[in-house]
Amino acid sequence: MILVTGGAGFIGANFVLDWLATSDEAVLNLDKLTYAGNRDNLAALAQDSRHRLVVGDIGDRALVDALLQTHRPRAVINFAAESHVDRSIHGPAAFIDTNIVGTFQLLEAVRQHWNGLEPEDQQRFRFLHVSTDEVYGSLAANEPAFSETTAYAPNSPYSASKAASDHLVRAWHHTYGLPVLTTNCSNNYGPFQFPEKLIPLMLHHALTGKPLPVYGDGANIRDWLYVGDHAAGIRRVLEAGRLGETYNIGGDSERTNLQVVHGLCDMLDRLRPDPQGSYRRLIRFVSDRPGHDRRYAIDARKIRTELGWAPAHSFESGLEHTVAWYLSHATWVERITSGAYRDWLATHYQ
Ligand code: NAD
Ligand code: TYD
Repeated sequence: MILVTGGAGFIGANFVLDWLATSDEAVLNLDKLTYAGNRDNLAALAQDSRHRLVVGDIGDRALVDALLQTHRPRAVINFAAESHVDRSIHGPAAFIDTNIVGTFQLLEAVRQHWNGLEPEDQQRFRFLHVSTDEVYGSLAANEPAFSETTAYAPNSPYSASKAASDHLVRAWHHTYGLPVLTTNCSNNYGPFQFPEKLIPLMLHHALTGKPLPVYGDGANIRDWLYVGDHAAGIRRVLEAGRLGETYNIGGDSERTNLQVVHGLCDMLDRLRPDPQGSYRRLIRFVSDRPGHDRRYAIDARKIRTELGWAPAHSFESGLEHTVAWYLSHATWVERITSGAYRDWLATHYQ
């Protein structure tokens, strides 16, 4: 079996669902169920004996030790993190606790477990750390995309905490020989994404007639990848990645934020027309995010050539799929856009 951390969040849940759709290997899912973790994301597995959710913290050493000892997974895939840049600006402490200290505790538990394995099991074992392209900082318009050798230059509390965790993972390989792999992926979108991130937030606001808040001039660029393609990339790295290596994952789909929002409005105009007019009328330019990175772009040649991975979706086909998913999952959206979520909107977008 494999141990997945953070598997009730957006990417983790997509990964677990895809894993069990393509393999019979069981998944033990350790998730703290923060505001971003959601049991509803795993509802399709409610009756599936191959999946078990344990509610807990990756930083809880006693719990992680016990899980490793009892279940003896052959791999750990670490998705658990605080993941939203704007929240990291309002309150960085949780990012330090989970992304840095939590990863450290997890690495230590895994190291102890791995040290006690038989040589054959030690050889087979993998620790895969899921990270982000944001660790590389911001690109100017004419600079080449981030490769695995681009120097780290994180600019937000979120990206700094992820960069720190990547360094710990690297050091646990070089110093202790732990069999690690790291992936650095560009911006994801798709089903089950919490509506604090650009695409689901814009969809939720458009469908409820609220303003669509575009930060600054809307010309910041992100490189978008459909979440199912990210999950497939992680599976491939787990299967065939070289130990101690990092792999950048991205979809060659650079878009300005305004292009993304226009694209979403146009799709909604077609699929769910509003009698009051195009959804574009709701766009508002609002104050910029402090320290807002201008451009991210991923050079994914290494995973493409070495491991034969390629995204199945173009940005347009992935977005169409995503919009259709949100339109047909109104209850999922309703259930998570109550209470604490509304407080976040009120504080952040005041
Ligand atoms: P998310 O915020 O949707 O989910 C994070 C999950 O981790 C939640 O289920 C949460 O409950 C859980 N969690 C948080 N703290 C925990 C702790 N201390 N112990 C156990 N569980 C905990 O995030 P996501 O978008 O699914 O991102 C998953 C991973 O992928 C993160 O490591 C993130 O840095 C990375 N990543 C995200 C993107 C993106 O575009 N969303 C892109 C590249 C990399
Ligand atoms: P986000 O989804 O928060 O991802 P990240 O900051 O990790 O790239 O934001 C994506 C882009 O969209 C980023 O440039 C900030 C911008 N953005 C807005 O313009 N308005 C919003 O309300 C949000 C949440 C993001």
